[in-house]
Amino acid sequence: MIRYSANITIMMTAARKAARSILRDFGELEKLQVSIKGQNDFVTMSDIKAQEIIHYELSRARTDYGFLMEEGKNQININDNDYTWIIDPIDGTLNFMNGIPYFAISIALHHGDKIIAGVIYDPVHNDFYWAEEGIGAYLNDQRLRVKSKKTLDKSIIALGIPFLGRGDHQQHIKFQKAVMSKVAGLRRFGAASLDLAFVAAGRVDGFWEFGLSPWDIAAGIILVKEAGGLAIGIDNKEDPLITGNIVAGNVNIVQELQKILNA
Ligand code: IPD
Repeated sequence: MIRYSANITIMMTAARKAARSILRDFGELEKLQVSIKGQNDFVTMSDIKAQEIIHYELSRARTDYGFLMEEGKNQININDNDYTWIIDPIDGTLNFMNGIPYFAISIALHHGDKIIAGVIYDPVHNDFYWAEEGIGAYLNDQRLRVKSKKTLDKSIIALGIPFLGRGDHQQHIKFQKAVMSKVAGLRRFGAASLDLAFVAAGRVDGFWEFGLSPWDIAAGIILVKEAGGLAIGIDNKEDPLITGNIVAGNVNIVQELQKILNA
């Protein structure tokens, strides 16, 4: 039986409480109870409600920790020695909005120059991914390891695809074309935090995306690392928490992807 640390317990409690509100709203969206016109506002409200629940729970438990959240304007100094929660109340908002059951609550704890704990909760499947520095990565009580494939040819790689108003579409097409000819399969699931959790769980062999926000990837970074993998910048010199450009997998897969994505 796993013993959860105090921080993981606090993060899990906050995520579970927010999940109740999120699942209620997801039920409404699934049953098409929300008019198309009102959908955006409804989803924004779901996001804000969930974030408020998480913020309330975490600040009650740790009165002096800071916050960086999707639905807010707080900024952190990434080298700050304070403790900072990094939160995405609903990652995969577009899936959530359209009744697609692939979204998650993502909460990470940042300290010094790194993430020291993270939880990613997929409330539809009741999948709790969590990791803590030096303790390992887990799905519920089961220890996670990244896949050990040495080459891309049998691998399945998740990716993010730029969309209206976001990212360099031509460059993306060039990279996707180069990767698709070398792998067994590509997948675009639509929630970067869960994509990284899938890498940690060995469900996919790798992941890349450009231009993400820190709350999309912070918890996923520690999950992949604690599962024995790498979750680093597409360019080795960049910090994904700052640039939002990230590649993840085991060391071989990451190096293969980096070769292509830096060409
Ligand atoms: C989005 C998801 C998606 C990624 C987008 C993100 P959000 O986060 O993680 O997979 O491709 O770039 O913005 O907006 O649903 O929290």
